Amino acid sequence: MLSRQPRRDETELGSAVDSLRDEVRVLRDVLDEIREALQWQNNNAADFPELVQNREPLGQTGCETQTDWSAGLQPPSQPTEIPDNTEPTPDTPPTLPSRELLSEVLHGDCYELLPTIPSGCVECLFIDPQYNIGLDYGSGSQADRLPPEIYLRQMERLAQLAVERLTPTGSLWFLCPEKWADEMGIMLSKLLPRRNRIIWRETFGQYRETSYPSGHRHLFYHVMDEKLSPFFTDEIRVPSQRMLSGDKRAAGPRVPDDVWEIPRLVGNASERVEGHPCQLPEAMLKRIVLCSTRPGDLIADPMSGTGTTLRVAQILGRRYLGIEKEARFVDLIKDRLAQERQREMFLQ
Ligand SMILES: C[S@@+](CC[C@H](N)C(=O)[O-])C[C@H]1O[C@@H](n2cnc3c(N)ncnc32)[C@H](O)[C@@H]1O
Repeated sequence: MLSRQPRRDETELGSAVDSLRDEVRVLRDVLDEIREALQWQNNNAADFPELVQNREPLGQTGCETQTDWSAGLQPPSQPTEIPDNTEPTPDTPPTLPSRELLSEVLHGDCYELLPTIPSGCVECLFIDPQYNIGLDYGSGSQADRLPPEIYLRQMERLAQLAVERLTPTGSLWFLCPEKWADEMGIMLSKLLPRRNRIIWRETFGQYRETSYPSGHRHLFYHVMDEKLSPFFTDEIRVPSQRMLSGDKRAAGPRVPDDVWEIPRLVGNASERVEGHPCQLPEAMLKRIVLCSTRPGDLIADPMSGTGTTLRVAQILGRRYLGIEKEARFVDLIKDRLAQERQREMFLQ
């Protein structure tokens, strides 16, 4: 007997049902994770009171008192006081030691670790999140394919946590692809004034013939204080078009405009480190760090990946704080930073 070929609308319906099924599965996973986390917190509240009450921040630098929250931002929420009636016993785990925030890389989830960093200490916070396009960072590609509203809510939470860490003159940089640029732009502008929306022309993108292939990403640059947040120009200047064409009227190097043409890293690029699906070029981070920070300032990257931000901060004499969820990427970052340290020692 001849079997009937499915009609086109039947096939489309089939794939719509499949993707709905995928989304339900992801939602179920997210709910399970939340349930597990709540369960874990309940079970451990008695053993680790510092996890649910006044959790000691990672560092105490005193700068957390400097933030002026009157500018319309909400101050970081105060931890809820939970009365502790238990007598301290020799088994009570010690609270995290206070220490100066020096350069370091933390292994863990940035949604949990960012709140433990004192508020008002970070001069420049750069975020290059996962783009929710099904890339496998280690937890499977499904983890990077959340329903859009859940993904966007996560990004908003991340941006809020980031803003709480910034100094009163700090800056927030947020990189995202065309796909999310509209939503991210609106979300970020509700949190902080925007200084620039930079187009990163990455030279070539994923090739396709169904529409113009995308060759750019959006880099949002927002600042805590439109007037007081610094913008250092000396080291970011580039030769002007007049200089390049040999025109005698050329006034000298100029601040680059808001379209940055920086080639993305291909597989055999000399700065490429193996084992991560998306590494940014150092040239991009160099401009960000140089225009918005002074030597010694603290720069943070809560989704560090291969540690490009941290490496650039290290080379330019800034302190850095990285967070990365995947253990193997943390190792990779530490190796990368150690190589730079060795090179510095060699050059001395
Ligand atoms: C787009 S990559 C960053 C690449 C980085 N800019 C670079 O140049 O190498 C995003 C990184 O965020 C990490 N990540 C995702 N969710 C995270 C979370 N909740 N906490 C910390 N890191 C996370 C991923 O493992 C991945 O390495």
